[in-house]
Amino acid sequence: MTTTNASVRKAVIPAAGLGTRFLPATKAMPKEMLPVVDKPAIQYVVEEAVSVGLSDVLMITGRNKRALEDHFDRVPALEAMLEAKGDTTKLESIQAASNLGDIHYVRQGDPKGLGHAVLRAKQHVGLEPFAVLLGDDLIDPRDDLLSTMIEVQAKTGGSVVALIEVEPSQISSYGCADIEEIEGESYVRVKHLVEKPEPHEAPSNLALIGRYVLHPAVFEVLEGTEPGRGGEIQLTDALQELAAGDADGHGVYGVVFRGRRYDTGDKLSYLKACLELACDSEDLGPRLRDWLPEFTASLSK
Ligand code: G1P
Repeated sequence: MTTTNASVRKAVIPAAGLGTRFLPATKAMPKEMLPVVDKPAIQYVVEEAVSVGLSDVLMITGRNKRALEDHFDRVPALEAMLEAKGDTTKLESIQAASNLGDIHYVRQGDPKGLGHAVLRAKQHVGLEPFAVLLGDDLIDPRDDLLSTMIEVQAKTGGSVVALIEVEPSQISSYGCADIEEIEGESYVRVKHLVEKPEPHEAPSNLALIGRYVLHPAVFEVLEGTEPGRGGEIQLTDALQELAAGDADGHGVYGVVFRGRRYDTGDKLSYLKACLELACDSEDLGPRLRDWLPEFTASLSK
């Protein structure tokens, strides 16, 4: 497949999930709008994409997701009110979300899985390599991941996944990669991928997290990908085909991430992510750090 040789410019953010793990909070509001400290979770993800030069963002949305479009749009009346009051801090905080870049939206239609959501980006992305960012994973802006993945994509011409080491018992919550080292390189070759294996069937304890830089050949593969685990069209299954060399996509590579990642995908990890990020915030951090030891001590009484 011929691709344009432009470096990665486009980010695809699937945001069509129903958020059932957070019901009833997500009954009338998308889970991507849940606040993490003082911003909706999705804003961190868009900021991460924009920070590495991906200013063309496509969100794959669904019903109930209007709040996402509203959040990244201007609110002239509110801006005028804050301006009149001279409240520049709040004014800048609301303008930050609408100044992030060019955000496009397409609806997923049927919720047929992550692979199906990514396939909805085919027309917008065209023949360029592109990034996919999943909103449940937040990557600390102080730790680099996506820009390294973009470099590896440019160097290999293939598709690049992000991997973390997990406890073997945790692997059934993730896509799992069997890899081999490449001499002299800090990235690895992905030989085999399997979506959410049982621990005893997992080829490793390397788990896929929600960052991908993909060769556009993945679209053709996804068009033929049958429903897999959970009856859904799995991105992992399409990438496995590229890794096996069954399709012309120049292979799959992995970047092992050892930085700070916050999972907001279920209630407990979401609460932990909020606490960890709030402890680091300039505004709330000092007071929260003072209070936390008192609070935990009171629990053990
Ligand atoms: C998806 C992918 C899985 C990956 C995970 C990372 O699963 O299918 O391979 O490990 O994201 O967050 P989900 O968490 O959407 O079920």
